[in-house]
Amino acid sequence: MQMNKPRSLVTDKDFTKQEILTIFDRAKKVKAEVKSGKFVPYLANKTLGMIFEKSSTRTRVSFEVGMYQLGGTALFLSSKDIQLGRGETIEDTARVLSRYLDIIMARTFEHSKVEDLAKHGNIPIINGLTDLLHPCQALTDYYTAYEKGKKLEGLNFVYLGDGNNMAHSLMLTGAILGCNVVICSPKGMDPDAAVVKDAKALASKSGGSVNVIEDPREACKNADVIYTDVWASMGQEADFHAKEKILRPYQVNKALFSLAKKDAFFMHCLPAHRGEEVTTDVIDGPNSVIFDEAENRLHVQKSIILFLMGK
Ligand code: CP
Ligand code: NVA
Repeated sequence: MQMNKPRSLVTDKDFTKQEILTIFDRAKKVKAEVKSGKFVPYLANKTLGMIFEKSSTRTRVSFEVGMYQLGGTALFLSSKDIQLGRGETIEDTARVLSRYLDIIMARTFEHSKVEDLAKHGNIPIINGLTDLLHPCQALTDYYTAYEKGKKLEGLNFVYLGDGNNMAHSLMLTGAILGCNVVICSPKGMDPDAAVVKDAKALASKSGGSVNVIEDPREACKNADVIYTDVWASMGQEADFHAKEKILRPYQVNKALFSLAKKDAFFMHCLPAHRGEEVTTDVIDGPNSVIFDEAENRLHVQKSIILFLMGK
């Protein structure tokens, strides 16, 4: 008998604006609880499995600590150590792990692997980054802007650099939330056309906007948030030298950042390469909120887990 599929977070499109706002409210609540020393075992006896095909500092530690803070447990499953890395199918892996675990987070190269885990498993799946998307990070970044007093509707959110997984998720989540998202990338490194199309459709419903442009000075004018990411994502390191020269004009430096609003935030998902996509004076300057973003991964993801588990 086919069981009803539980909700998953495979793509940013999986949550509505109302659901995201509910997740933000809960994130604020669980953050306040842990800050005040209150321990509520919402997920006693529950286990999260964390499948990693790529490296991670923030995602691994924030999911693992998050489960402890919710009274549950987390298991680190490197794809090098489990049979998935030796050719066991995603289908069998998903079906077996669904018998042991209550929820899975997976970081993979191909986006289709996370889709297939959700398709074949019977427990919620959370995308912990794929070559296409990084929804947990994007949700956390908009939460961080919101928590710090920015109004999401009409927020001028500018991303500069490689049109990568971060650009895609920021575009989709921003479009759902009614933000004005600008992705500023050089020709040949622009974001995926299908994702842009989806984001534009979402923006037309929410009252936001999505624009892909090439001129960094034009992009930064009047920005509320300026965001950047590494020039070579995980698995694409071989392209770095070819991309470096082309991306240099997209470096977030003081001159570009000064075109934004006075109270604009600088954001970065981290890890960062100072002197490449961003200068030290900006990333370590007074408008940078990078460590708040990093911390909030913990609280937003706890809220996502509770939401997906119906708690
Ligand atoms: N931002 C982010 O996902 O960081 P990690 O690669 O360290 O998990
Ligand atoms: N675009 C980066 C994000 C890291 C969190 C990467 O995929 O490596």
